[in-house]
Amino acid sequence: MNHGPQRADEGLFDVDTQDEEPEDLGPTGRPLPDLPEPTPPPAGPKRAIIIALTNQKGGVGKTTTTINLGAALAETGRRILLVDFDPQGSLSVGLGVNPHTLDQSIYNLLLSREFSFDEIVLSTTVDRLDLLPANIDLSAAEVQLVSEVAREQTLKRVLDPIRDRYDIILIDCAPSLGLLTVNALTASDKVLIPLECEFFALRGVALLTDTIAKVTERLNNDLELLGILATMFDSRTLHSREVLERVLEAFGDKVFHTVIRRTVKFPETTVAGEPITTYAPSSPGATAYRMLAREVLARCHAG
Ligand SMILES: Nc1ncnc2c1ncn2[C@@H]1O[C@H](COP(=O)(O)OP(=O)(O)OP(=O)(O)O)[C@@H](O)[C@H]1O
Ligand SMILES: [Mg+2]
Repeated sequence: MNHGPQRADEGLFDVDTQDEEPEDLGPTGRPLPDLPEPTPPPAGPKRAIIIALTNQKGGVGKTTTTINLGAALAETGRRILLVDFDPQGSLSVGLGVNPHTLDQSIYNLLLSREFSFDEIVLSTTVDRLDLLPANIDLSAAEVQLVSEVAREQTLKRVLDPIRDRYDIILIDCAPSLGLLTVNALTASDKVLIPLECEFFALRGVALLTDTIAKVTERLNNDLELLGILATMFDSRTLHSREVLERVLEAFGDKVFHTVIRRTVKFPETTVAGEPITTYAPSSPGATAYRMLAREVLARCHAG
């Protein structure tokens, strides 16, 4: 175990490290909001807020954010459902489920009326955190759905009836803007876009925001951009800081104050099959996702 000083690339906010920002500014250069510790969810009937995590660019941290934000939200006492909506099944793998050995998955809920939600949903090692798993079968659904009536509403029909069982539902989208992602956006109240602090981060974002605008106009008037999350940030490189500045110029207050730094802890958690909040509970990565959970609850007025 490493008891040495915290590494600059693993800190949540630069204030903990020897970086140059003044005390009260976060990594995005804006004053940090004073977000209270979330209270447990109110008793009484639930109506889940559904959030899609989307970016057609691959490897930007959609799945990592779904798992770790979900686990951090579950820690606040909320009931959380994570929906694997990517035929790669990475979300399932990241929670210790082998997608190849699944007999049933979200595919069966989408395309057949013979299965109930309870037959497909899995509990995870984290209390109050459930998973709707996926595997390669889901790629067939994308093809089969094309000929269905109201094909864009298929996931919505699966999730609407179970909204009263969860506080928040997170949908991990595939890196595409195809029919599956349109289904996810149609079923959701909010969309969260992870952006990697890399050179081409903003390339393709116009196409993504255009798709969100079209879904909002034609299929789901209630859809709102919840926020942009900067991921894989490395404060030691000028490049990473420049990309973050450009993201802030483009999206302003939509950018979360929380920034997720690049650290090998995240790939390690995938191998372990559990969230960073249980794998390394006091690591800066876990702290960052807990802070993101607070921001998400505040933005959803659900704190
Ligand atoms: N903050 C981080 N620091 C370092 N590595 C990370 C970080 N976040 C994610 N990773 C790693 O980067 C890879 C891609 O992350 P992830 O699977 O979350 O992206 P994704 O957007 O879901 O990818 P895809 O588009 O393929 O679904 C994974 O190996 C993951 O462990
Ligand atoms: Mg993914």
